[in-house]
Amino acid sequence: MIDIVCRRGIRSSVVAIWFFSCLAHPAQSDPRLSMSESARRGEELYDRFGCYQCHGHFGQGGINGPPLVSNVLPYEAFRTFVREPRRQMPPYRDAVLDDGQLKAIHAYVQASGKKPVRDGIPLLRDPGKTR
Ligand code: HEC
Repeated sequence: MIDIVCRRGIRSSVVAIWFFSCLAHPAQSDPRLSMSESARRGEELYDRFGCYQCHGHFGQGGINGPPLVSNVLPYEAFRTFVREPRRQMPPYRDAVLDDGQLKAIHAYVQASGKKPVRDGIPLLRDPGKTR
């Protein structure tokens, strides 16, 4: 009797582990999963440092800032610009945003430019729901 209870216990925990591991990886087609570790960290920093407020969440451009993704500057030029912008953009000095963080943001902007903006909207990713 005890033996049966134990075996059931093991089987249900195997099922539970399988179930929860599926929850941990919701959709294999999630474009964020194809981004490098650095780009994913960059996405978080891009939002935290407010780049999205002017350039849009995907770097597609917004009311206050031009698109960043249509022609992504090489890292050195990107960095120079962010440190010493020419006109309206506020400068982000090293004390506020360090080079490691800026590299990650650059990786995010590059990755973001490679996927269609609508892929970032989970509801629109399921073709069955958009028609
Ligand atoms: C308050 C609005 C604002 C914020 C916040 C902002 N930008 Fe900008 N950004 C601009 C504007 C406006 C320009 C156009 C040039 C100018 O007027 O300075 C620009 C230009 C740029 C450019 C050069 C354009 C190009 O051709 O690629 C880069 C790179 C850039 N921003 C990156 C960033 C990053 C990275 C952040 C966050 C760390 C950021 N910006 C935050 C407004 C902003």
